[in-house]
Amino acid sequence: MSHRSWCLVFGIILQVFLSGAAKGEFYSSVDSMQDLAQVEQELLNATRSYLETQQQQLDFYRRYVEQIKREHEWATAQLKLDEYLGHPLHAFRLIKRLVQDWDAIIFEPILTNKPREDFRQFIEILTRDLGYPDQSELQGVIKGLARLQRVYNLTTTDLADGIINDLHYDSELEWRECYEIGVQLFDLGEYQRSLEWLQAAYELLRNAIAENNDKIQYLSDIREYAAMANFELGNPKRAGRLLNQILDPEPTHSAQQTRKYFENREPGKNIAEKNPSWFANYTRLCQGKRLPEESSGSPLKCYLDGKRHAYFTLAPLQVEPVHLDPDINVYHGMLNSKQIYSIFVEADKEEMVRSAVSGEGGKRTVRDLRVSQQTWLNYESPVMKSVSRIIQFVSGFDMAGAEYMQVANYGVGGQYEPHPDYFEVNLPENFKGDRISTSMFYLSDVEEGGYTVFTNLNVFLPPVKGAMVMWHNLHRSLDVDVRTLHAGCPVIVGSKRIGNIWMHSGYQEFRRPCNLTSDSYKSLAYRDSV
Ligand SMILES: *[C@@H]1O[C@H](CO)[C@@H](O)[C@H](O)[C@H]1NC(C)=O
Ligand SMILES: *[C@@H]1O[C@H](CO)[C@@H](O)[C@H](O)[C@H]1NC(C)=O
Ligand SMILES: *[C@@H]1O[C@H](CO)[C@@H](O)[C@H](O)[C@H]1NC(C)=O
Ligand SMILES: *[C@@H]1O[C@H](CO)[C@@H](O)[C@H](O)[C@H]1NC(C)=O
Repeated sequence: MSHRSWCLVFGIILQVFLSGAAKGEFYSSVDSMQDLAQVEQELLNATRSYLETQQQQLDFYRRYVEQIKREHEWATAQLKLDEYLGHPLHAFRLIKRLVQDWDAIIFEPILTNKPREDFRQFIEILTRDLGYPDQSELQGVIKGLARLQRVYNLTTTDLADGIINDLHYDSELEWRECYEIGVQLFDLGEYQRSLEWLQAAYELLRNAIAENNDKIQYLSDIREYAAMANFELGNPKRAGRLLNQILDPEPTHSAQQTRKYFENREPGKNIAEKNPSWFANYTRLCQGKRLPEESSGSPLKCYLDGKRHAYFTLAPLQVEPVHLDPDINVYHGMLNSKQIYSIFVEADKEEMVRSAVSGEGGKRTVRDLRVSQQTWLNYESPVMKSVSRIIQFVSGFDMAGAEYMQVANYGVGGQYEPHPDYFEVNLPENFKGDRISTSMFYLSDVEEGGYTVFTNLNVFLPPVKGAMVMWHNLHRSLDVDVRTLHAGCPVIVGSKRIGNIWMHSGYQEFRRPCNLTSDSYKSLAYRDSV
């Protein structure tokens, strides 16, 4: 497979995520992934320029050597060597060459090798100051891949063939890459997944055209890992058979060590991974399938609302109710592309300090890779003033209670497991009440994945650029509504950008009067059963 297509695959894989984990900063945002691509571009340039300089140097040495050689040949062709050297100018030349020229033209440059030294420094700066990805990030991205498989029920063979949800990407994996994924998953203790990837690697390699010693060696390597994974999964017999397949034809193979290791150890217990209680609902909804449920009356219908506020008289709100009690509404077409673009421009101003780094050539600048993945925008710019008006007119809330808008790039930030938006306890000091409502703007379409799902409510929402979702996190009594648990599904392909505005209950006394006959009795009962 070509390098390009591997990059494509890796592009897809990298876009996958690390969940809330602190590690793996690169993968948690498409922007930082773009920075990484930039880093590789720099590497490519630096390496090409290094090779070119080296080539020029070598050509230069070669010419010098040829010139001396020609001089020797000329001399010996004309005269005997002693006659030649008897000439004082010839003697001078030879001695000068040996004393000065060889040193300056050949020894010194070859031994110091300035291009190599420059290259070394460039690499050092690149890897030290730019936070080059390391082993843990590779593991993170592979773990993310395994999680993607779990959430979307993707088979390893399909994924290796570049097939995701019936879409074919020009990006099938090579055996080596499958093997690497298998090995990393083994190290992460994900033995069943590891085995699947090793199996895929094995099949790919076995069907590869090349027949040579290396191939046999590699097949043995794969078998050995597969043996270890089987052992950990509580299949010592299968593990033993795999080792025999290596050792029968080659008794001195290092798999002997592995066999000894098995002999002194209890096999693993094959404990099936236990998923949290929300997991079944979560994966189903993320896949865009509704949960089986007793039908609850008439289906909800979209409608236009021109009455909510004078603002909407000419352009009525396009309301898509997706759930009643708690009410969840999607308001379509709230922001146009130009406004969204302006929001990104604002976000960009707030974002990231970029560091200039000098590398080879001294004048290179490289963007800081450790960009922040979230930005908070106040309501002063023209576009944010419109956002503020929208929220106010749609919700009826007083914007004095609004937090700044949080703009997040989940492109690869991946899976946000079910969580509520309210705090309930440990409210930050500057909060005036808990987060009574959430308004979430979708600032991008997502090619695949990235749904917002409410695991208790049988609701999934594919991101639609320009739309806003709104719901209340608190009951009228201001008790928290635990049914509002929601999650962001992993992005499979593409980049997910959203803007969140959370409203505090403190300023809303006159906007949404609380009701002492709490409507939260249902959910309190529900919570006891969680
Ligand atoms: C790499 O070199 C090309 C031209 O050789 C240039 O256009 C490009 O901007 C360079 N990229 C970086 C990241 O320096
Ligand atoms: C996952 O996909 C396989 C087919 O590839 C299917 O048999 C299985 O039921 C699916 N599992 C879930 C939980 O959707
Ligand atoms: C799963 O969703 C159903 C609604 O379809 C809900 O009744 C149930 O409580 C949910 N289960 C969990 C664990 O969230
Ligand atoms: C308070 O809530 C109860 C139960 O939902 C409802 O019957 C009542 O009309 C509400 N009172 C006010 C003032 O909204």
